[in-house]
Amino acid sequence: MKEFTAVILAAGEGVRMKSNIPKVMHKVCGKPMLTHVINAAKGAGANKVIIVVGKDADKIKEVYINEDVEFVIQEKQMGTGHALMQAENAVKNSSHIVVLCGDMPLVTAESIKGMVDFHEKEMADATVMTAKVSDPTGYGRIIREGKKVLDIREHKDATPEELKINEVNAAFYCFNTVDIFASLAKIQNDNSQKEYYLTDAIKILNQEDKKVVAFELSDPEELNGINDRKQLAKVQSIMQKRIIDKLMEDGVTFINPDTCMVDCDVKIGKDTTIYPGAMLEGSTTIGENCSIIGPCRIIDTTIGNDCEIAMTQINKCVIEDGVKIGPYTNLRPDCRLSQKVKVGDFVELKNAKVGEGTKIPHLSYVGDAVLGKHINIGCGTVFVNYDGYKKHQTVVEDNVFIGCNSNLIAPVTLKAGSFIAAGSTITDDVPENALGIARARQVNKTGWVIKRKQKFEGGISGNGNQA
Ligand code: UD1
Ligand code: CA
Repeated sequence: MKEFTAVILAAGEGVRMKSNIPKVMHKVCGKPMLTHVINAAKGAGANKVIIVVGKDADKIKEVYINEDVEFVIQEKQMGTGHALMQAENAVKNSSHIVVLCGDMPLVTAESIKGMVDFHEKEMADATVMTAKVSDPTGYGRIIREGKKVLDIREHKDATPEELKINEVNAAFYCFNTVDIFASLAKIQNDNSQKEYYLTDAIKILNQEDKKVVAFELSDPEELNGINDRKQLAKVQSIMQKRIIDKLMEDGVTFINPDTCMVDCDVKIGKDTTIYPGAMLEGSTTIGENCSIIGPCRIIDTTIGNDCEIAMTQINKCVIEDGVKIGPYTNLRPDCRLSQKVKVGDFVELKNAKVGEGTKIPHLSYVGDAVLGKHINIGCGTVFVNYDGYKKHQTVVEDNVFIGCNSNLIAPVTLKAGSFIAAGSTITDDVPENALGIARARQVNKTGWVIKRKQKFEGGISGNGNQA
């Protein structure tokens, strides 16, 4: 295939978004819409990607600081033709260019590649991607003679006859570089919007006896662009469906796919079941044969095989095979749960390494901790990691048993096999196999209740509970 450079037009102001964020930086399925377009261009084989940006240049550039893309600036938005002209210098070493729009993130690498292959096969000078739509309002209409595209008429400049045409311009093109810039040099802005239309280059190419053809998409879905929040939501739902459909094709069960949110880079293994309400975000990877039950939010987390996770939030953690989490667990960043760990309801973990088979079943806070294997952490245990100035670490070695409602005042180490009596506040290290008990000894005062009653009520018997 021919080499080509992709030019992405993204200088439009996006006023209808009513946003402080540049339009093309709004996210669709976890990534800025522009990123999807860049990825499609690269996926189709672009050897270079040039992005035409306007007044938001700095805010956009900083996002792609480590990305192999180049930027050119269009100081004033004078139309799509004017926008492409700004890239002339940047593309001059490439024999072909593909033009895309930064606010049309549903474009696929397959369609771009299809258009480039068609352009080559037809030995065309320009190829316009088109589609037939049921409602062509707002789109440029394709004026054809057989295979040839003679002109593109913008909606605002079309005659009533032309408005009836339902084949429209997708605004994705493949051009011979020299020909398109020669034509752009001749376009005028004598139209209803006083803009330099890229689409006017088509008529000029025809006048110069160049071959302009249409590459027609069978499905117009990719034409959905984003100008406002409603279109953003529509594009999101289309891309979401693509992502979930692909996962289902690969063997993942979604009980109610319409209720789930899955970002574009999320990976899920086969025979995993996703229950309604899951939010799977960022670089999350889930292994095979897991169940993600109910509304879970899982961000940038790696989960092994055979895990069961219910109604839980997990952010930037690593979960090994056979782990059970939830319901109602909060795993904050930097936790690593080894195989067969169980973390139950109303437990919060932060920066905690938890060894194989350890159980933290209920109502605990475990922060800044290193836990060994096969530990049992009783209900209501608190790892007291913060003294108001600094965070301190707690180490719990293998096979420790921590009784309910214990406080571990860090820094502290519970050596292997030690046993903490329920209700203890542990401030000192506990040696191997020792009992750590740190609470006042119980005293029972015989007849105390009766004496109290006599004092307050003058001799009536009972337990004093009549409130
Ligand atoms: C354009 C096409 C129309 C097509 C439609 C598909 C033209 C004249 N018309 O119309 O035929 O059916 O797309 O969506 O090309 N941009 C710049 N600088 C500018 C103007 C626009 O970079 O000065 C960028 C925008 O950011 C956007 C893209 O070019 O990404 C398209 O511009 P837009 O104004 O949305 O064109 P449409 O009127 O939708
Ligand atoms: Ca548009």
